[in-house]
Amino acid sequence: MKRIWIVLALSLLLLAGCASNTADAKRPADGEGLYKFGCLSCHGENLEGLAGPPVTNMKAKYSEEELLKLLNDGVGMMPGGLLTEEEAKTVTKWLLEK
Ligand code: HEC
Repeated sequence: MKRIWIVLALSLLLLAGCASNTADAKRPADGEGLYKFGCLSCHGENLEGLAGPPVTNMKAKYSEEELLKLLNDGVGMMPGGLLTEEEAKTVTKWLLEK
């Protein structure tokens, strides 16, 4: 009978550990950090494109509003809502300066 309580206590500890890990995981707040966090895997370290197309010189193609909408809604094979709207705004500004 005692063993059950030990097992229970241990699983609770494990659960608590996992929960605090997610809370501690730092989410970046600057444009570059957010790009690395949410976009780099498809658009490459230097915006050169990987699974997705290159995203250099986006200011020639999109206005700030258009780009923000694209990030929030997604386009073609790119999923929308990868970032919160607030984060998407930050990345949009950052990307338009590239
Ligand atoms: C899962 C992979 C993936 C992720 C993650 C991703 N994208 Fe994309 N992105 C794509 C693909 C694929 C396209 C091309 C969509 C199409 O036209 O079919 C695209 C298109 C774009 C375009 C339009 C390019 C053009 O020439 O019109 C922009 C801008 C863009 N992505 C920015 C971003 C930003 C900023 C992020 C991070 C918030 C991001 N993407 C995250 C896959 C991704």
